[in-house]
Amino acid sequence: MTAPLIDPFARAITYLRVSVTDRCDFRCVYCMSENMTFLPKKELLTLEELDRLCSTFVDLGVEKLRITGGEPLVRKGIMTFFHSMSRHLDAGTLKELTLTTNGSQLERFADDLYAAGVRRVNVSLDTLDDRKFADITRWGRLPQVLRGIDAALRAGLKVKINAVALKGFNEQELPAITSWCADLGMDLTWIEVMPMGDIGNEDRLDQYWSLRDVRTTYEQHFTVTDLAERTGGPARYVQLAETGQKIGFITPLSHNFCESCNRVRITCTGEIYMCLGQEDVADLRAPLRAHPDDDAPLREAIVAAIARKPKGHDFDYSRQKLDGQMPRHMSHTGG
Ligand code: GTP
Ligand code: 5AD
Ligand code: SF4
Repeated sequence: MTAPLIDPFARAITYLRVSVTDRCDFRCVYCMSENMTFLPKKELLTLEELDRLCSTFVDLGVEKLRITGGEPLVRKGIMTFFHSMSRHLDAGTLKELTLTTNGSQLERFADDLYAAGVRRVNVSLDTLDDRKFADITRWGRLPQVLRGIDAALRAGLKVKINAVALKGFNEQELPAITSWCADLGMDLTWIEVMPMGDIGNEDRLDQYWSLRDVRTTYEQHFTVTDLAERTGGPARYVQLAETGQKIGFITPLSHNFCESCNRVRITCTGEIYMCLGQEDVADLRAPLRAHPDDDAPLREAIVAAIARKPKGHDFDYSRQKLDGQMPRHMSHTGG
């Protein structure tokens, strides 16, 4: 490691989230529109470019790398990339290599991910009802994902379930999802739906289920204690006395966690977003492609981008703000 990445608010950037594709085999209603136009292949960073970019970040002090998408496991050849990244785990410079996935391809890849040094995966799953699952993902098949989760657990991966809290959709399922996670030894995190994308804004506003209310629902079923610990991510945790489980809450809208932000995001085209909730981006693909044999311009571009990291996000659920809301899909920045 040469020089750590410190932003203008003295936050060390040690966590990089990288979207490796904008494609996905699902079309979750809060994430994508039904008819998505995906990027032409030449716009995407190649696997070699992704490797060089991530390795440069590791060299600059990034210790945690989370691969996202779209759905990262639909990117052709992605396991080559995971295996190549594992050299940084072996060297001790990278502490964690992980991914956020919809689980559809886990049955096929779980063992190989473990072999590449992945120890933990986050799987997005909002319901345990076949029909509702098909509705929210527009055509996903729940049994396929459940088989994927099973394969991941058998491979030795620790699994965290991410459920987007949606009023009138998974409210009633909260106890069932919670017990299912407890039985399988999986952590569970609820995420407040974020005002992103260009579809169904009004619907999403109606579907907004505040995590304060989710907590109240927990209190009706369990004995809930707040935990002080943070894991370097945006989640806050509570513990349920009855199951011993920790439940995470990611509340970008009702609770601002930006002061301890340690992360930046790379899109599949090599743009760096300094914040999920801000539009400012810098292009890293140009220095990457213009100087294939010299990392210095890339490093300079990264350092310059970090110097622009804002203090916090701009999400706001007031109706006025929604009118001018960001036209970006979550699949673009990788969540
Ligand atoms: P771990 O803490 O390592 O388990 O991961 P994580 O929670 O950082 O990653 P995950 O991909 O599971 O993130 C879950 C969701 O939290 C993301 O998809 C986003 O919706 C939200 N999230 C993660 N980081 C941020 C952030 O910096 N800002 C905001 N607003 N939301 C975030
Ligand atoms: N609001 C909140 N979470 C979202 N995700 C995708 N779109 C949204 C949104 N609009 C979540 C997915 C997944 C993670 C990568 O991001 O469910 O858990
Ligand atoms: Fe795909 Fe995840 Fe977006 Fe659903 S939320 S469409 S699974 S990228």
